[in-house]
Amino acid sequence: MGDFEKLLQKAEEIAKRIINVIKAGKKIALIAHIDADGIATASILIKAIYRKSGRFMVRVIGDLELQLLDELKESDYELFIFCEIGGGLVNEIIKRLQDRWIIIDHHKVSNEELSMDNVFNAWQFGFNGSVEICGAGMAYFIAIKMDENNVDLSYLPVIASLADRQDQGIKRSLISLNEKIVNDALKYGYLKVTTDLLLHGRETKPIHEAIASTTMPYIPNLSSNRDLCLASLTSAGIKLKDNGRWRTIAELSNEEKMKVVEVIIPHLSGAVNKKVEDLIGTVYTLIKEDENTPLRDAREFGTLLNACGRMGRASIGISICLNDRDQALQEAQKILEEYRQDLNRYLQIILTDQSRVIDNEMWSLINGDGLVNPNMLSPLASILATIPRFKGKLILVKTIMNNNEVKFSVRFGIDCEPFISLASLINEAATQCGGLGGGHDTAAGARIPLTNVEKFLEFISLKLRSLK
Ligand code: C5P
Ligand code: ZN
Repeated sequence: MGDFEKLLQKAEEIAKRIINVIKAGKKIALIAHIDADGIATASILIKAIYRKSGRFMVRVIGDLELQLLDELKESDYELFIFCEIGGGLVNEIIKRLQDRWIIIDHHKVSNEELSMDNVFNAWQFGFNGSVEICGAGMAYFIAIKMDENNVDLSYLPVIASLADRQDQGIKRSLISLNEKIVNDALKYGYLKVTTDLLLHGRETKPIHEAIASTTMPYIPNLSSNRDLCLASLTSAGIKLKDNGRWRTIAELSNEEKMKVVEVIIPHLSGAVNKKVEDLIGTVYTLIKEDENTPLRDAREFGTLLNACGRMGRASIGISICLNDRDQALQEAQKILEEYRQDLNRYLQIILTDQSRVIDNEMWSLINGDGLVNPNMLSPLASILATIPRFKGKLILVKTIMNNNEVKFSVRFGIDCEPFISLASLINEAATQCGGLGGGHDTAAGARIPLTNVEKFLEFISLKLRSLK
């Protein structure tokens, strides 16, 4: 367990620094990562700065390019706050921005970076940033030190930590500092915590559609196959309609829910108790949200934010975090649909085109070149990690970027024990190959010059072999 007092002390120092910039009438630039956590982190700070009448701009990006740092250097902002991005590039940031920056993060970065005053990272205080707190949680602690009324933003880190798959407690619950924030959200009446089936659209979609749109875990045959879901549920004798209206999972009795589990289980791989654990767990309901929207379930809210960011529409995600429930929500639902379609298309092609997968005894390399948009690599890798085809393997998914670089996302497949920290492995491999890499113990990513891909893979193979 880390030192929460110390973390809060540093949050307070940063809060003061931000307030001083606002009081001096100077502008703040927020640079955020495109995933749900990055968007939520930026949104918390936007709200906190706005409430103090501060001036700011936001930029949401997939990767921090040196060219952007050059541009920032020329701009007239007083303070640059990097939200969940920038780890590994601190020396480059200092070269251009001197002392005018802060990084708020939970990624595992080098001790050199952790020792810096301008870095505010969970690992500095002995917290495991992979599971105990997300970027939005770190921003939340700053926000409540800026003004205690910002406690009303506590629902945002809950969404972000679920989106970052930090639900590693019993029954897929949030733990440690995330749990503290859950308690704030409960106390202020934003949240309800229950145990239920973890299917997408639990409260909003007809049951067959809920199963078909679930991709975490990916349910071979059923994910994205509405007709088969409908047929399987009907033949299991589950009542799907009530007075002509489709029923939802949330409306089913416990007995009926178990029947739904029985329909799904044969399609999943692995031990039965593990499969049930993946399907039944802690549900975080945002009780102030409309029951008929994907914002009601915190996991779905996170998926929606991810979709907005990764489909190049992060501003819609930010608007939703800032409470726009009209135009932005409608738009976001369309984006979510396109996002799911894109991911499904990638999956279908990868799982049928054998030339896209190379296996060896330790890893499966999945080649998304010319198919997968670099911004979509990360959610694709997370889904591939739940597919039986890659059971027991380290999963390396790659796609070519447009600047002679290759992007990698790395995950553990089903039943592949996390025998090494992926953040350290990928950081070391990328650095050896003139690239940049890092992340968390169980999810990491890298960018490598195209010419060094073979070397990168060889390094990983050698390292893994030395551990066997
Ligand atoms: O890109 P992807 O989501 O697969 O990466 C997994 C994790 O590693 C993410 O949290 C991402 O922010 C992080 N990462 C990193 N440095 C990189 C690439 C990814 O810290 N160069
Ligand atoms: Zn994160």
